[in-house]
Amino acid sequence: MTLAPGQPPAPPCPLHPVVVIGAGGIVKAAHLPAYGLAGFPVAALHDLDSAKARALAAEFGVPRVCETLAEAVAAAPADAVFDVAVPASALPAVLAALPDGAPVLIQKPFGEDLAQARQLLALCQRKRLRAAVNFQLRYAPCVAAARRLIAAGAIGELHDVEVRVTVHMPWHLWTFLEGLPRVEILYHSVHYVDLIRSFLGEPRGVYAKTVKHPRTSRLASTRTNIALDYGDLLRANITANHGHDFGQKHAESYVKWEGTRGAIKARLGLLLDYQHAQPDELEICRVDADGRPGPWQPVPLEGNWYPHAFIGTMASVMRYANGESADLPTCVEDAFRTMAVVEAAYESSARGATPIPPS
Ligand SMILES: NC(=O)c1ccc[n+]([C@@H]2O[C@H](COP(=O)([O-])OP(=O)(O)OC[C@H]3O[C@@H](n4cnc5c(N)ncnc54)[C@H](O)[C@@H]3O)[C@@H](O)[C@H]2O)c1
Repeated sequence: MTLAPGQPPAPPCPLHPVVVIGAGGIVKAAHLPAYGLAGFPVAALHDLDSAKARALAAEFGVPRVCETLAEAVAAAPADAVFDVAVPASALPAVLAALPDGAPVLIQKPFGEDLAQARQLLALCQRKRLRAAVNFQLRYAPCVAAARRLIAAGAIGELHDVEVRVTVHMPWHLWTFLEGLPRVEILYHSVHYVDLIRSFLGEPRGVYAKTVKHPRTSRLASTRTNIALDYGDLLRANITANHGHDFGQKHAESYVKWEGTRGAIKARLGLLLDYQHAQPDELEICRVDADGRPGPWQPVPLEGNWYPHAFIGTMASVMRYANGESADLPTCVEDAFRTMAVVEAAYESSARGATPIPPS
């Protein structure tokens, strides 16, 4: 079995010009760098803050800045993909203004709660948008390599998936989160819920507890435990502590898959120091015929979550729009299911734990 990273998929053909709505941190850190690497042409950029859009356009050589959303829609080439990267609260108005039938990639989360996700889904379907949500962690090179290894039987039957994040998160970068009723699961662990669904399918239910942190008292809960219920033989856990303010030594950021014949661990280097990302890493351990574990071996990787994974989601929308692929893996219907799990997690946390029986 080869441990080589494998060929990245061929680029979509033809490429579609991209019109980006929103010129914030994630567009600068990941969308535009990814499109530069992949050779995806960016036709125009619009943000409510025009100065910000102009600065970003100059930095990445985007030929046109549109002052209004209406101008961006009018200026869009007929085959444009709209790349929407605004806070969830802005999605209803932005999606409503896009041309019917347009291909669209929408930043997560798909709404501020399940009720809004349902309205957004209806809006996308009414307008026949060919729309996907940007759950790009599925396309991170380390995740794609792990998925290939698991599909090839490298670790036997998968029975355990664990995501653990113990980091200092610079929440101040996202001022739009202040005052929102939901933060951690909706805006961060949603990636892990989506990732686990992409490996294990739909959970039967969710046990969750999410709590605030004294440092980030202006934010809703930022620390979470989620256990997804897949029955009695499969364990799927997400533990996210973004308030580990004690340096790198004991910081953790990984996804681990355990199977009957081995295990795979992906380090998500980005989160260990969000503003100075470390590289991702992937390792595999296989057991011999007697059940003895071999050494952990590195699996070569080409690229990191940021920005390489962002090529994958945009390419999936272009391929779907081309007719090259009939499958849009993170389509809005699928994203709605991820949002349903997020909703259940918040409900579980609010409902509280099983009381301890009195002695
Ligand atoms: N890995 C990821 O997938 C990832 C990471 C970070 C952020 N995000 C998502 O991306 C979105 C933006 O996050 P960010 O980090 O760039 O935030 P940000 O605050 O840095 O930028 C948001 C930008 O959107 C603009 N904006 C707001 N409403 C708008 C509207 N109606 N029309 C045009 N522009 C509008 C703001 O002016 C701002 O420039 C959020 O939904 C967030 O959840 C995803």
